[in-house]
Order: sequence, then structure tokens, then C-alpha cells
Amino acid sequence: MIVHLNGEFLPIEEAKISPLDRGFIFGDGVYEVIPVYSKKPFRMMEHLQRMQRSMDKIGLQNPHSIERWEALCNEMIERSPDPDQGLYIQVTRGVAPRDHAFPKDAKPTVFMMSNPMRKAPVEWHTEGAAAITARDDRWYNNDIKSTALLGNVLARQKSAEVGAVETILIRDGMLTEASSSNVLIVKDGTIFSPPKSNLLLPGTTFDVTIELAQKHGMPHQLRPITEAELRGADEIWVTSATKEVLAITTLDGKPVGTGKPGAVWKQMHAHYQVFKREVTGC
Ligand SMILES: Cc1ncc(COP(=O)(O)O)c(C=O)c1O
Repeated sequence: MIVHLNGEFLPIEEAKISPLDRGFIFGDGVYEVIPVYSKKPFRMMEHLQRMQRSMDKIGLQNPHSIERWEALCNEMIERSPDPDQGLYIQVTRGVAPRDHAFPKDAKPTVFMMSNPMRKAPVEWHTEGAAAITARDDRWYNNDIKSTALLGNVLARQKSAEVGAVETILIRDGMLTEASSSNVLIVKDGTIFSPPKSNLLLPGTTFDVTIELAQKHGMPHQLRPITEAELRGADEIWVTSATKEVLAITTLDGKPVGTGKPGAVWKQMHAHYQVFKREVTGC
């Protein structure tokens, strides 16, 4: 497997990083995952812009121009054999003697790899998937796509242990997001989702979903969602670059609506597949 490290493409076995890298020591870095279909990146610019925003929020100087990032991403995709990939980019604050305060002259570490995209199991489309809920006990800067993901890791582990695909998070009685996806609900034919805030990641797939709802005249509203509304929803969806739009059909072991992927999800799923083909030309 060929990866990219600080300007070089090399076999992963040869990619060496200092244990003093602040990504390793403090989780002091940001990342992105860009889906790639038939070797064409999907929404690359939006991901690169979100990465810039994450860097700005943590005071990390972007080591590359957008044009350079585009070139690096395209080369990483070309050098990775699979047509459908998950392109991972990580930028940390670099190597420096261990001290919480920012180092004066560390150079950011840039790491990239592109893995084969994990195919959604067929049952996800026919049956949907299970999720559980948990208290959102993460910090208050979840709009930053930070590599410091322990809160998300612990949340995700809870659903993994019971064979569910996601952990949906509730903070002070309100829906925020899930461990690695955004959450939307459908009630009486209208799509609802919490508005963007510091409590959740501004998802690129979420944006596509809302754009498609607008384009196809599907009623939708961004407003705070209570835990009771989540539990009483006709449909629950989670969205992420790798899951796309996935119907959650059981929540904490209870059926959501009919317990099958709903009619509104079916429409959105179809629109998403068409849009993907339009954008990537495949
Ligand atoms: C916490 C969290 N929320 C939401 C998302 C969805 O973002 P995107 O649609 O850009 O993948 C992710 C993706 O990894 C995530 O980790």
C-alpha cells in the first residue's frame, strides 16, 4: 500500500513518524475522509474547505494551497488500486518537545492514504440498520474535524458491542449527531435535522442531502430536535461520506416507524445515487 507522508509517496512500511508528533501525543490535528467513486473524488472541494476551517479553528497553518491539495489527492487516488476508495487526509501540528502550548516552529505533518471503500451490505438498503442512543459527553467543539476522537470512539464502541451500526447522541435532552455521522428524522413527511452548531460536525453528506431535498421539493426544516421527537420519528437517517444516507430501522432495540426503510428515505436514496452519478460522471 502506497501512502503519502510529508511530500513523499512511499510504501506504508516505510512511512515513519516521530513519537513526539503532536498528533500522537495530544491528538493535536485535523483530518478528512473523501469518498472516491470510479477514481473520481466526490465533493473534494467541500472537504478541503472544511479542512481549512478546522485548521483555522485550531490555529494550525495550512501547509498547502488548495491547488496543491487537489494535486496530492488526485495523485493518491491514482496510486491506489481500487476504483472506489475512502481517501484519508490528516494534518497535525508536527513534531516538538512535549508541551501543551503550541510549538513556535514545528512543521505540520501531512499524512494521506486511500483505502478501498467499504461496500454497504445489501441489507442496509432492504432492511436498514440498527442504532442505539447514548449521552453526548464529548467536548463543545464538535464542529472541528479533530483527530482527537476518543469521545466518538467510546460512543461508537457502545453500539459495536451490541451489533448496531451507530450510536446516536443526546445532549441535555436534544439530538446532536452520531459517533461518526449526522442524523436526520422524518415526521409526517417532513425531514427535520438539528441546525449546524459547535455541537456537531458540518457534514458534507448532510449538505448534499439538504440540497437534494431542496432541489426535489421535499419538505425539510432545520431546528432543534428533542429526544422525544427522535424516539417518535417515522424515519431516522444517518449520513456520512462512507455510509451515504442510511435508514435506521431500530433504535435501542425498538422499531423506528414500520421497522423498514421508509418512503421518504427511498426517495432520498434514489436522488443521492443519481446525483453521485451526475457529479462523478460514472
Ligand atoms: C462526528 C461526525 N459527524 C458527522 C460526520 C459526517 O460527515 P461527512 O458527511 O462529511 O462524512 C462524520 C464523518 O466522519 C463524523 O465523524
